[in-house]
Amino acid sequence: MTDTTLHIGQTLSFDASPFDAGPAVARHSARGAILVEDGRIAARGEADDLRARNPGARIEDHGAALLLPGFVDAHAHYPQTAIIASWGKRLIDWLNSYTFPEEARFGDPDYATAQARLYLDLIVQNGTTSVCSYCTIHPESVDALFTAAQARGMRIWAGKTCMDRNAPDDLRDTAQSAYDDSAALLARWHGRDRLSYVITPRFSPTSTPDQLAALGSLWAERPDCLMQTHLSEQTDEIAWVRSLYPEARDYLDTYESHGLLGANGLYGHAIHLEPRERARLAEVGAALVHCPTSNTFIGSGLFDMDGLMREGQRIALATDTGGGSSFSMLRTMACAYDIAQLRGRALHPAELLWLATEGSARALNAADRIGTLAPGSEADFIALDLASTPAIAQRAARAGDIWEALFPTIMMGDDRAISGVWIAGARCKGAA
Ligand code: GUN
Ligand code: ZN
Repeated sequence: MTDTTLHIGQTLSFDASPFDAGPAVARHSARGAILVEDGRIAARGEADDLRARNPGARIEDHGAALLLPGFVDAHAHYPQTAIIASWGKRLIDWLNSYTFPEEARFGDPDYATAQARLYLDLIVQNGTTSVCSYCTIHPESVDALFTAAQARGMRIWAGKTCMDRNAPDDLRDTAQSAYDDSAALLARWHGRDRLSYVITPRFSPTSTPDQLAALGSLWAERPDCLMQTHLSEQTDEIAWVRSLYPEARDYLDTYESHGLLGANGLYGHAIHLEPRERARLAEVGAALVHCPTSNTFIGSGLFDMDGLMREGQRIALATDTGGGSSFSMLRTMACAYDIAQLRGRALHPAELLWLATEGSARALNAADRIGTLAPGSEADFIALDLASTPAIAQRAARAGDIWEALFPTIMMGDDRAISGVWIAGARCKGAA
């Protein structure tokens, strides 16, 4: 029997990117609804209208809550859950002091499973229904995350993080084993249920040219897969890349010359880019992943959202947990706002919301399935309480429109603002 539920609340949707067309492309309904049928969105519209046309549907009325697509986190490291908010280091020291010792524990499948479950529980509580995550060098860490996501019915992306130099002995593979392990994991998981494998060289400093080339070959064999890595996050890192790859034109060239630049590539951070790098990234249509809480926490720099959007780059938004200091995409939007302000551009709430949903989904080539509430999409959605704390409520009470009502939650909200979460139509947070 068909399971049909009409979810009623405020709704917001975008007819185009607000970066291209301005915030007026957003449509707000104070009494809107989505009709969910067998895990998919069957219709979206005005509550009264959908109710009259679907008399058999079960009704869930969420009152003044705002129904939105689940957040899409385009870059995270689930194995860094336990070391989030580790004090006082910049990127390379932070990796050596905190990250690598923790990642070494993921060779134990029981530990990997426990951390994968904990991580997914945390992000779902924060309204994130899809994530693109790094794992560790260990294939077991990929199995653990995909297994846990599969049990929750989540659409996620993940890959084994490959490193064959400049990492501890127990966290190094080789060019050949990185290729073999990645290919085996890809064959095991890619396209199974809602899971996708991502080819994952950590970053140029921890891969030899041979390893980058091996993963470039795998990507050429499987161009349907996404590829994720890090690019130009800190100035020390860029100087290190220059010394490790003296023949490269710039950081991006270390990837480009090994077959690791393409439209299905996700390049995390992308802060300190050279003009040639910007031009090539735009030309191939690669995706840049902005990780604002990480960029402030590790002291990396200020992402040029305005300039990069103007030159037509594809941009996604992400936590970068645990270099990022939060599991919350609300907190991530707030930090993106702060960083853009420091560069002289006030991001509109419509732009922030779009980045955290459809923008990230587009970067993952999945906006036809997640990141919007369009009919035909998978029913991954959240209910956002726009008055979740006294401080937010008193500000929202003064709001003259939906953007003024939403912005205090973007800036000050956390998991308490997420009053409901549904994955493929099934409720995962909040009371029915
Ligand atoms: N660059 C290479 N690895 C990492 C990582 O784990 N986190 C961040 N923020 N940057 C990286
Ligand atoms: Zn990262």
